[in-house]
Amino acid sequence: MVAVGVMLASPVLNMVVKEIGAVIGGQIALQKDFTKDLRKMKMMLESVAAVMKDAERQSIEEREVQLWLKRLKDAMYGISDMLDEFEEDAQSAARKISLKKDLLQFASACPSICPKIKLANRMKEMREELKVITDQHKSFMLKPGTITRELKITDTRATSSVMKDEELIVGRTNNKRDIMASLSESNTGRITIFPIYGIGGIGKTTLAKMVFNDAQFKDYSHVWVYVSQTFDMNKIGNSIISQLSKAESQLTERQMIHNSLVELLAGKNILIVLDDLWEDNGSHLDDLKDMLKVGEHSRIVVIVTTCNEGIANKFQTIEPYKLAPLSNDSCWIIIKQKSSFDSRDDKHEVEQIGKDIAVMCGGLEVWP
Ligand SMILES: Nc1ncnc2c1ncn2[C@@H]1O[C@H](COP(=O)(O)OP(=O)(O)OP(=O)(O)O)[C@@H](O)[C@H]1O
Ligand SMILES: [Mg+2]
Repeated sequence: MVAVGVMLASPVLNMVVKEIGAVIGGQIALQKDFTKDLRKMKMMLESVAAVMKDAERQSIEEREVQLWLKRLKDAMYGISDMLDEFEEDAQSAARKISLKKDLLQFASACPSICPKIKLANRMKEMREELKVITDQHKSFMLKPGTITRELKITDTRATSSVMKDEELIVGRTNNKRDIMASLSESNTGRITIFPIYGIGGIGKTTLAKMVFNDAQFKDYSHVWVYVSQTFDMNKIGNSIISQLSKAESQLTERQMIHNSLVELLAGKNILIVLDDLWEDNGSHLDDLKDMLKVGEHSRIVVIVTTCNEGIANKFQTIEPYKLAPLSNDSCWIIIKQKSSFDSRDDKHEVEQIGKDIAVMCGGLEVWP
């Protein structure tokens, strides 16, 4: 799926809802039908507003939703222009009328007569357009707060413990050895939290997988949680419970999650990888630590990957591990693998270019 970028439409939608409210409750006397139309329009927009947050998040990956938000945004500008025109027309009509003393009485009886016809047509158009747009949102199943459950946004960054062939992993033997040594040395307390940090794409997840799948942990129960940029304690707790109990858990009460974890973690050796942690709120991280620190007579090893050194320092029980870039030689080996270099006819001509690219990579993956 192609990432298309977030489309923000809620600020303009909220502005228009307020504008409509101001016109309905404002100084200008309105035709009864027009007030009714505006009220309906406001209600429609308020129900759309309830799903905007989810729609905007979904628009990161769904072009269809992004286009829908764009249409909605354009319609909002249309309604806003219509309201501006209406207010201008109404004010200038009132000014003209007030100049003619003899018409004053008429003006107070029917002050909005001038914009009435033009506005009625415009209002009809806008309402029809809005109806089409709001009907469309139903086809995306956008209901308040349901996107993550019903539409399942595909997070293209999501990971699992599945490893590619070890032989395709280049130049990380020493790093793995160092990490194993740190974990063995710290094998005392009930819980060990060991962060691996380093810039994006440097190979943290790959290294975590190597450790996770190592024979040293063969007597451990294994749990792999992809944390993601959206930090959700219940999701993390449920994922651990599901993996340990081998039955899907969707507990919503924190206490229930706690009770299950107490039971499942007790008396066991458990290796948990929390991959891709972005949360930097200290108290949330303390809550997470407390959530994992529950099993009686258990030995829990938590490996965390994060791009952020600050998070690594906050969420640890032993010194975090800073992952350095791969050497130029390792990068060149990876490039050769990925470009099937050895079977190319032009390998002598392109070799130097490949080596130059390896230097430019600075140890980072460059393929999309
Ligand atoms: N040592 C390696 N040898 C070969 N390929 C590697 C190596 N390390 C990482 N890669 C590849 O590079 C890409 C990025 O690696 P990885 O996902 O582990 O990085 P990361 O640091 O976890 O990135 P992010 O911060 O975005 O989560 C992956 O496709 C991975 O397979
Ligand atoms: Mg990663």
